[in-house]
Amino acid sequence: MIGRVDGTRISITGLGSYAPERVLTNHELAQMVDTSHEWIVERTGIRERRIARPDEAMTDLALPAARQALEQAQVDPASVDLVIVATVTPDTMFPTTSALLADALGASDAAAYDLLAGCTGFMYAVAQAYGMLAGGLSRRALVVGGDVLSKIINWRDRRTCVLFGDGAGAVVLDRVDGGGFVGFELGADGAGGIHLSLPGGGSRTPTTAETIEQEKHFVQMNGPEVFRFATRVLVSSAEKLLAECGRSIDEVDVYVPHQANVRIIDHAARKLGVPEEKVVINVDRYGNTSSGSIPLALADAAADGRLRPGALVLMTGMGAGLTWGSSLIEWTDGVAA
Ligand code: UT7
Repeated sequence: MIGRVDGTRISITGLGSYAPERVLTNHELAQMVDTSHEWIVERTGIRERRIARPDEAMTDLALPAARQALEQAQVDPASVDLVIVATVTPDTMFPTTSALLADALGASDAAAYDLLAGCTGFMYAVAQAYGMLAGGLSRRALVVGGDVLSKIINWRDRRTCVLFGDGAGAVVLDRVDGGGFVGFELGADGAGGIHLSLPGGGSRTPTTAETIEQEKHFVQMNGPEVFRFATRVLVSSAEKLLAECGRSIDEVDVYVPHQANVRIIDHAARKLGVPEEKVVINVDRYGNTSSGSIPLALADAAADGRLRPGALVLMTGMGAGLTWGSSLIEWTDGVAA
């Protein structure tokens, strides 16, 4: 799916993020599995990640991020009529995290649903919220991207446990007078889905004592295959979107790629021709937070003063499905129309 925005201008008018307090370093991981700080840094760029407490679930990460985004947008939570939470680690499959979040916020008139698109979830959710606002169905949307992957990782599997972390980000979407979203490109390749999966617990393989013994309730990943996919789609998705929107890569001021591995990010930036100073990187501090990755990186860019009004921001995500998605936005000053 690809589309260039025309007509109604819609933008991000508030941004928030939250990561659990507990920092897990590579050195600690080296005590848990056969790995080393040096290997992890060299192969991934990750130095540490945040890990949720046993009693912390997705809603507990989403709530502070959402409150911060709503405060920044200076809007009453009750005025939000659409809540989408992109996550593969909801508190429970149902009730949904979005419904629990809307209730906790006091957004009692909101439609609320969770969205599953792996690490690309935030890009899909933002595109959907854009469509709901542009189509006149929603007046104000809250989109959260986040995951608590630590709860579905096999902490004895060094091929996966060193990569992931927990975190969430939230944005408020509103109509604006100018600027805002320019276009979206989204896609999926189910044939490659096998390379990154959570095989147990669904209707194909319901949880039994046997599936637990076979560790099917943990993330399974073919790292090199996902690496190849990632390097390909981060480039192709961005290039297709820029062409559709009639923009060149030189016009992009801030590049926010999915934070999975610094080698993937460097490859994509080099191929696209984005200079280092325009690339946002925080995978060293958070690891791969799945749906939380892009909004957490946006929050970091905002804190660094890089998201000034008028800046053209390119975001690209990729992940389980396999899926990918890009968005271009002209950053606005946060004031709704
Ligand atoms: O959001 C999307 C989610 N996933 C991703 O984006 C992941 C994409 N893939 C990657 O980032 C990389 O493939 C990894 C970081 C997962 C792995 O790096 P790699 O350079 O592709 O390594 P590899 O899987 O080809 O493994 C190379 C070696 C193997 O040893 P042998 O067979 O050559 O003896 C692995 O067993 O490295 C070994 N290895 C490790 N060694 C120390 C794998 N994981 C580790 C580890 N520590 N944590």
